[in-house]
Amino acid sequence: MSAPSCDTRPAGDLPPCMLVIFGASGDLTRRKLIPALFSMFRQGILPRPFAIVGCSRSVMDSEAFREALRRETVKREEEAGAWNGFATLIHYRSIQYDQESFTGLRTFLRDLDNAVGTGGNRVYDLAVPPQLYPVIASLLGGTGLAREESGGNGWTRIVIEKPFGHDLESARELNQTLHRSFRESQIFRIDHYLAKETVQNMLVFRFANSIFEPVWNRHHIEYVGIMAAESLGIGSRAGYYEEAGVLRDMFQNHLMQLLVLTGMEPPCLLESDAVQDEKVKVIRSLRDFNTEHGSRICLGQYTAGEIDQTAVPGYREEAGVSPRSRTPTFALLELYIDNWRWQNVPFLLISGKRLPRKVTRIVVQFREVPHRLFRNLLGNTIGANRLTIETFPDEAIRLTFQSKEPGASLCLRSMTMDFTYGEQYQKSSLDAYARVLLDCMAGDHMLFWRQDGIEQSWAFLTPVLRQCEQCLDRETRLHPYPAGTWGPAPVRATVERLLAP
Ligand code: BG6
Repeated sequence: MSAPSCDTRPAGDLPPCMLVIFGASGDLTRRKLIPALFSMFRQGILPRPFAIVGCSRSVMDSEAFREALRRETVKREEEAGAWNGFATLIHYRSIQYDQESFTGLRTFLRDLDNAVGTGGNRVYDLAVPPQLYPVIASLLGGTGLAREESGGNGWTRIVIEKPFGHDLESARELNQTLHRSFRESQIFRIDHYLAKETVQNMLVFRFANSIFEPVWNRHHIEYVGIMAAESLGIGSRAGYYEEAGVLRDMFQNHLMQLLVLTGMEPPCLLESDAVQDEKVKVIRSLRDFNTEHGSRICLGQYTAGEIDQTAVPGYREEAGVSPRSRTPTFALLELYIDNWRWQNVPFLLISGKRLPRKVTRIVVQFREVPHRLFRNLLGNTIGANRLTIETFPDEAIRLTFQSKEPGASLCLRSMTMDFTYGEQYQKSSLDAYARVLLDCMAGDHMLFWRQDGIEQSWAFLTPVLRQCEQCLDRETRLHPYPAGTWGPAPVRATVERLLAP
């Protein structure tokens, strides 16, 4: 391994700031945000000075809030000491979502700014149900909390989780509401897939190596498979999932981002707007979804089955799910990017709940060799090259190729060159939430959705959703699959094809 070439911008040199979390007593704060912030604290990469203010409707004081978080976060004895230091950064304010309460919050934050020395720099993180996004954004705007001080001191930023809208119209409406109080440069729309190490590596892999780009096109690539399989069911999120289904939950955001990173042209600069411009072009080039013109879709819903030798209920038997629900928990979507590079190369996007195991990967399947040199001797079983970029279970990049087995007779075999992050790097990767919070504090939009990207993505998906949700034979189009199998029978072989190394 050679010495690394690193970004020369100072790392960990973030401006002082305050992180205000709305929805502080909720699941996301407990499970994701606080553990990510605690790990950043232990690595010494949080801004200094720094403060965390939890806000929610639950009535408690800062001490009770810290204690509830400590119980959830500190898992090992050796973390207890660090927690005591971290806990001094945490404050709590009980609020209602109304003007009066936000006016009080403004005074509270200003006083804390002065006491801690965070200079009016604030990140507002909306870890709340989506119906509260417009309410909170408007209250922040209405009470002057979104305003930035002139002269570069005192910036404010807002972080929005997914789902960002329910369809094109609602996404546009939400954008308009946000823009009444915040400029686009203040808005950070999260997609945690973009913060995964292997996903970020896609840009480096494609554009910092000269050997892949010449073959990264329709002349050499047979198809691209993008898979996010999960063994988990919907857990306690029935209310959300019944409305969303797999297409809104996984395709509109995460899988679309993976597609875009695989398909985009090289940007002219490694700079947020240049990268976002190229991404939007890919979404804009997607062939209109129309089953008569080659688009393929298969929707499925899990029935009772077994995962890891444990019986699990079907989707319709999950708590909070209608026994007649027609919400898809699996989808395979075959898409085409209508441009010079990708004409007629199928992009197979697959995601499902309650599949046998969790696998997240991009598979680039190359074409077979054009000449029959070995086929004349060995028949048609010679595999083509395959590149696999995996984020789960391993963070890895693998390339398969043919080689001759040692010995007198001519035998070919598929071999795999394997680069696994865990084996090559001693450093552990930064948690996805830590990455997005750091970038937001640094004001870097590279890993976030821009307004036109998110709207373009919904513009593509909304007609697909309409076709799926408004057709008369919705029930017959929804294929059942037993939990613990690789999806509905008509596409199971296609899914399994993507699982080979
Ligand atoms: C979330 C979805 O955005 O991503 C979940 O709402 C899904 O349904 C999760 O389980 C998958 O994320 P990861 O990082 O575990 O692949």
